[in-house]
Amino acid sequence: MIGSADMQAGGAAGAGGGRTVAVLGPGGVGGLFAGVLARAGHRVICLAGEETATALRKDGLAVRSDTFGEFTVAVEADTVLREAVDACVVAPKETALVAALDRVPREALGAGLVVPLLNGFEHVSVLRERYPAEQVVPGTIRIESTRVAPGQIVHSSPFAAVDLASRTVPAERVAALGALLSGAGLTVRVRDGGDEDAILWEKLSFLAPMALLTTRYAVPVGGLRTDHHDEVVAVMEEYASVAAALGATIDVAAMLRLLDGARDTMRTSMQRDAEAGRPLELDAIGGAMLREADRRGLPTPVTARLVAELTAAAGDGAGGAS
Ligand SMILES: NC(=O)c1ccc[n+]([C@@H]2O[C@H](COP(=O)([O-])OP(=O)(O)OC[C@H]3O[C@@H](n4cnc5c(N)ncnc54)[C@H](OP(=O)(O)O)[C@@H]3O)[C@@H](O)[C@H]2O)c1
Repeated sequence: MIGSADMQAGGAAGAGGGRTVAVLGPGGVGGLFAGVLARAGHRVICLAGEETATALRKDGLAVRSDTFGEFTVAVEADTVLREAVDACVVAPKETALVAALDRVPREALGAGLVVPLLNGFEHVSVLRERYPAEQVVPGTIRIESTRVAPGQIVHSSPFAAVDLASRTVPAERVAALGALLSGAGLTVRVRDGGDEDAILWEKLSFLAPMALLTTRYAVPVGGLRTDHHDEVVAVMEEYASVAAALGATIDVAAMLRLLDGARDTMRTSMQRDAEAGRPLELDAIGGAMLREADRRGLPTPVTARLVAELTAAAGDGAGGAS
C-alpha cells in the first residue's frame, strides 16, 4: 500500500520511490519519526524554529535507540512548509500547537495527510477546522523518546507503537499511511475509522492518571503503586466513564495490570516538564477531559481536584510538584 496513488496524492515522491513527509515539531516523537523515515529512504522535511532548522540542516538528525540503533541521517529542514507533501506528522507539545501550525499553511499542504501524534483529543478538532477533514488521521504513540538537543533524539523505551484511526479519511489512505510507517520500523495498528475516539481515549485513560499523579505528588510510578493506588483507580475510572459516554470502552483492570508492569523508577513527561519549569500539557490531558465530562454531566471529582492543585502549583511557579 505504500505505493498507492493515494499516498502520492499530496506531493512529489522522494528519491528512490520514497514518499515526502513533513514533520512539524522534530522533538522526542517527531524527531524519531523523521529519523526512521529518512533512514528508510523517504524524503523528510522537518519544520521547526530557525535554531532547530539550522542545526538539522547542518548536522542531520541523530537517533540513539536500543530498538532502531544509533544513526545519523540527513533531513531537510525549514521554518515553513513550502510545497505539497504526502503526509505531515504533527508532533509539537499541545502548548505550542497553534503557533506551530502557522508553519503548515493550508494551501501548501496540498492533499497530504495530517497526522497528529499529540496526547489528548481536542487537537483533532483544531486540525479539522484548519485543514480538510478528509486529510486528518489521528494517531497515538506509546513510546519514551526525548529530544536532548536540537536534532538529537534518545529513544529509551523498548517499544514505539502507533495506533491510527480516522473517521474522516478513506480507509485505504489510512492503511497506506500505516504501511509507510511500519515500513520504517515502527509498530503500527490501523484501526477502523469508528475507533477514532477509542484510540485517543485508551491512550489518555492510561496516561492521564500517571501524568497527573506523578506530577502532583512528585513521585515515580512505583510511588503511585505504593501510596496513591486508590487515586489511580479513581482517576482511571473517571476517564473511562467519559470515554464510555463517547462510545469507547476502557478496560480499567487491564490498565491497572499495565501499571503493575511499569518500572518503579519510571517518570512521566509531564513530571519531567514540571521539574524543568517547562509548560505542562495539563489542559490537553486534564482540562479537556473535565470539559467533556461537564458537557455530559458526568462527575469527575478526583481529576478536577488534581487539575486544580496542579494549576495552582504551576501558577505559583512550583512546577506542579508539592
Ligand atoms: N516524548 C514522548 O516519549 C511522548 C510519548 C507519547 C506521546 N507524546 C506526546 O507527543 C507530543 C510531542 O511530545 P514530545 O515529547 O515529542 O515533545 P518535545 O520533545 O518537546 O518536541 C516538541 C518539538 O516541537 C518543537 N516546537 C515547539 N514549538 C514549535 C513551533 N512553534 N514550531 C515548530 N516546532 C515547534 C520543538 O522544537 P525545538 O526542538 O526547537 O524546541 C520540539 O522539537 C506531546 O503531545 C506528547 O504528550 C510524547
